[in-house]
This record gives sequence, structure tokens and C-alpha cells, in this order.
Amino acid sequence: MELATTLTSQTVQNTVRQVGINANYWYAVGWANQLKPSSIMPVLIWQQAIAVYRDENGQLHALEDICPHKGVALHKGKVQGCNLACAYHGWEFNAQGHCVGVPYLPKEQKLPRAQARSYPIQEKYNLIWIFPGDPTLAATQEPPNIAEFDQPDWFMVPLPARINAHFTICNENSMDVFHGFLHQKLQGWFDPILISLRETDTSVCTEYKVSYKGRMAKFLGLSQRADQVTTLPVSTEYRYPHFYSFLQGISTLYLMRLPVGPTETHSIAFFFFKIRLPKWALRPISPLLKIFLQRFVLLRFLAQDIEMVESEQRTINANPHRRYVEINPAIVAVQRLAIRQYEQYVQHVGQSTQLENNRNRDSQKSISRSEGMVLDQAEITNEDAT
Ligand code: FES
Ligand SMILES: [Fe+2]
Repeated sequence: MELATTLTSQTVQNTVRQVGINANYWYAVGWANQLKPSSIMPVLIWQQAIAVYRDENGQLHALEDICPHKGVALHKGKVQGCNLACAYHGWEFNAQGHCVGVPYLPKEQKLPRAQARSYPIQEKYNLIWIFPGDPTLAATQEPPNIAEFDQPDWFMVPLPARINAHFTICNENSMDVFHGFLHQKLQGWFDPILISLRETDTSVCTEYKVSYKGRMAKFLGLSQRADQVTTLPVSTEYRYPHFYSFLQGISTLYLMRLPVGPTETHSIAFFFFKIRLPKWALRPISPLLKIFLQRFVLLRFLAQDIEMVESEQRTINANPHRRYVEINPAIVAVQRLAIRQYEQYVQHVGQSTQLENNRNRDSQKSISRSEGMVLDQAEITNEDAT
């Protein structure tokens, strides 16, 4: 749906800072090449602790980071073949989370019925992706499509970040091009105008016009001369739960969000630049250029953004009921989307729990019947009707 782009004053719904995530999406939790075979990595996705491990054959697995025996964190254990053994008593769990070994249990005895939850996991773009929601929906979603990743004419600069703020505060920072004011000294952008705004059930897309000037603009090919003003359209998109930005074939940003908890958000950003140098000239300088762009450009912008959003979060912590005013309709749409996605997830969990309860009740009934308990037809009909 196309929305008006007029800047009008609206009161922010404070509930947006309390929403949880819709867990029925793929979330990137770390670098795939940093998790070597037989090693384990603890991760948190919206307060769900998960032990990610790579087995001896190089396959990735993800189990709830809680041993079903006594609750010790499974990531403290060790990889044994394709399984994960808890550090405490050595109970061993397979990739599906089933207990498949207890070192001190006599051979003839049955293994305990202990199960750790397992999560769908995959690696793509050198990232480890986990689906923390309903596993039956994992195949209906995919990690974002990053076409530039394998294209040699794009120069990629990765940038991880850890921010002490709710993920909605971080999203709004990414979607709000009007904060170019903050980056003035870094010669960011200026004179932004919101020219289009579209909203769907799962996304908010904007187009702004922004102006650039300065040495950085020249270096990135935005203008011919440093003193020349160039005005270009920039698209930003919150395609839940991740974020994208495109600057007309000059640079592209993919920002993968990892909401860790109510006031902690991690992200991994891939910046792609079209560097106007021939390949033979770019290849030898590319490691240095990557470090230069990370340290002296992107991290400086990021540090300024983090200072703002963490300040915002601290004020909310001190007084959660204080009201704020927004004038950018894109931000209001981004807030609506976060609330709507969370509500959809809560509804989905509610329906799944109801289904699960019904299933348990049905199996309870058949157990009762098979144990010889006599229920007359009238009783069954009455119970089913409740
Ligand atoms: S707590 Fe994990 S094996 Fe005992
Ligand atoms: Fe910024």
C-alpha cells in the first residue's frame, strides 16, 4: 500500500519498545568460517540460549543451550563425533537433541528419556543462520537474497555491531534518513526528502532524495569533484526482520539484525561498493582498502549512531512511560510493522499451543482407553464438546 510522505506530528506508541520478535524468520548469529569442526559457540536469540556446534564432519547443529539433566549450559561441553556431550556428567545428545549416551549407565539399561530442543540451522554468505521459531515453518522462509555477495564487481566490507538498545530503536536509526544531521562532520549526506513510502504486511519501503558533497563522495564515485553537490535517490527497506539500503548502483547495504534481548541488539552488515578501479589495481590493495573503509569510514558513522540509540534506550529505561513525538511517516510504519509481526507471532504460538494441548488430550484419551478404562460414548462426546 502506498502511504503519504507528508511529515506530520504523531505520538509514538510506547508499546513498540516492549515488543518481542517474530521468531519465524532466519536470524544470522555469527561467521560460519570462525566455527571450526568440533567447536561450540553460545548464541542468544531474543533470550533463547542456543549452543551451536560444528561436528567432526563439518556439519552445523543447534541445540537449546540447556542440558535436560540438570540445566547446565551445553556449550560448555564438547563435540564427540556428530554429538554434543554435556560438560557435567557427559550425557551425549545427537543433532536432534535426543540423549544417545550416558557414560556411567550400565549397557543393559535403557537411556533416560531426555531431549534438548534442536533448531533448524544453515550456513549462507559465510554466516550461520538459525530459525528460532516453529521449526515446521523453517522451509517456508529463507535468509535474505544477497545477490552482490558472489559478484566480483562489488567490493564487500563486513561490519558487525553490538548495541545496547531494543531492536526497534536500531531499526528506526537505519530507516530514518533524516538523521544525516548527526553525520555532518563525516561528510555524510544532507537535504533529505522523503519521496515515496510503501507498506506491506512484511515490509516498509522508502525512497528519499539526498545530497552528497565532499572528498568521501568523490572517492565513492558519487560526484566528479569534492566541491560538487550531487543529489541521488536512496532506497531503504525494512524487510522484516532485516534491513536493506540501495544507492543507485553505487553502494548497497544489507543489515542482518539479531535481537538478543530487550535492550541488546547485534547486527552484521555487508556494505557493497562499486569501486571505480580496474580489477588488477584493486586486487593488491583490497585488504588494506577494506580495513580503511571499516575503521576510518563505517565505524565512525556507526559509533555516532550507537551513541544516539543507546542514549535513547537509557532515557526509556529511566522512564518507560514518557511520550515522544515522531514526524516521519516511514518511522511510524516501521513501528507498526514491528508490533504487527510480534502480534502475529504471539497468535501463532497461541494456536500451536492450543493444537499441542488438543493433541496431548487426544493421546491421553487413547492411553486411558488402551489401559482398559471404560468410558461410555456419552462421556467422550461431552468432553469433546468442551
Ligand atoms: S547436567 Fe548435563 S549431564 Fe548432568
Ligand atoms: Fe547513521
